Amino acid sequence: MVNILLIGNGAREHALAEALVRSSEKPRLFACMKANNPGLAALAERTLIGPYHDLAAIVAFAREGRCEFAVVGPEDPLSRGVVDALAAAGIPGVGPTRSLARLETSKSFTRDLCAKYAIPGNVAYRVFTSLDGVAAFLETLPGVVLKPDGLTGGKGVLVQGDHFETRAEALALIRDILAEHPSVTVEERLEGEEFSLQCLCDGRTVVATPPVQDHKRRFADDRGPNTGGMGSYSVADHLLPFLTPADVAAGLAITERVAEAIHRETGEYYRGVMYGGFMATSDGVRLLEYNARFGDPEAMNILPLLETDFVAVCRAVIAGTLDTLPIRFAKRATVCKYVVPKGYGLPKDHPDARSTSARIEVGDVGAARLYHSSVDQRPDGLYMTTSRAIGVVGIADDLARAEAIAERAVGAIRGPVDHRSDIGTAPLIAKRVSHMRALRGK
Ligand SMILES: Nc1ncnc2c1ncn2[C@@H]1O[C@H](COP(=O)(O)OP(=O)(O)O)[C@@H](O)[C@H]1O
Ligand SMILES: [Mg+2]
Repeated sequence: MVNILLIGNGAREHALAEALVRSSEKPRLFACMKANNPGLAALAERTLIGPYHDLAAIVAFAREGRCEFAVVGPEDPLSRGVVDALAAAGIPGVGPTRSLARLETSKSFTRDLCAKYAIPGNVAYRVFTSLDGVAAFLETLPGVVLKPDGLTGGKGVLVQGDHFETRAEALALIRDILAEHPSVTVEERLEGEEFSLQCLCDGRTVVATPPVQDHKRRFADDRGPNTGGMGSYSVADHLLPFLTPADVAAGLAITERVAEAIHRETGEYYRGVMYGGFMATSDGVRLLEYNARFGDPEAMNILPLLETDFVAVCRAVIAGTLDTLPIRFAKRATVCKYVVPKGYGLPKDHPDARSTSARIEVGDVGAARLYHSSVDQRPDGLYMTTSRAIGVVGIADDLARAEAIAERAVGAIRGPVDHRSDIGTAPLIAKRVSHMRALRGK
């Protein structure tokens, strides 16, 4: 009997839990959550509800549960060193140490690493700890993106044209960022189509999972503010409609180079997920950032397709034997849509911004899979909090059918909710394809 510690409380971790319990080994899950996720709790043997900074409590819970290893879903506990603390207690983790989680927590660490090891796909950038030289550097770039160091919950990056217009505004924003963060990366703004390539890494071998496209903007047609992600899709051929096989290969090659560079730089092997956020541009595949864990929602696209036993995959990541394990994904299309409170992601003065924390009814979701996120199970029903509530996932042989399954499921969730009806639909995908075709000039 294998016992596994799973850390995290979102829909991503609900999908991780599902992939783990599907294992032929019938593992028992010990779930450490900062808030009680009813979907995840239902799959767990035991739960610990507590903050991710209480490393001692997490280690004690894992020890009492005699957990063989830990799977860490979110970035927050990684950045607090939960993998280091568990390792000290003899419990290995799928997830990087605090130091290696800098791949995500420090944008400057990753840009500098790629520059030092001449890894392709990097952008023109400079890291600033003071305003010295900022104005002159801004003059050299036609468009800029500002990235504070440290975790910002996806709300820290500022893109010229979206968040500010002029160089003078950029300068003022950089001053504000430096008041709160140790450094800021100022980089060239790219144009293209984004994709997420979530890779498994044991330190030496990197295995790509099918590419996924996320939708950050709150409203249809990519309007409105950026959010944690409103939904995502993947395609049966394990490409995306606007990508070539060479684009995906380029993302994997960059990630392999980064894994190797991390080892050379730190002497440590990276064991966990290296999620590359890439942009296909007129100038090839460029790196936007790495995350040190699966994406939320992107985990919900790829984990249900995993045909290889996930417990075996985790063990191979820990043991450094990924090269010996064939990892397969079903050749099916997936569409994930997040059901969110109407007020989700809106500015506080917006009339809908208050419609959170309401009760929802989940009816017949048909063939869709349902992953709980920020919901609270109370005696009188299921309540939303202020964040994304439920991820629904349609899986089918083609995108149109997967989208229809997801859309039908969304319709079965009643309450003051909203979602993006355009994710995975033909018109939106045609737009991505023609954007990319225009950029590539063919
Ligand atoms: N160099 C860049 N050029 C154009 N857009 C960018 C660039 N870097 C980031 N972005 C945009 O900003 C978003 C957030 O940036 P990212 O690096 O992914 O940070 P985070 O996910 O931590 O907010 C990206 O998804 C992309 O839309
Ligand atoms: Mg990102």
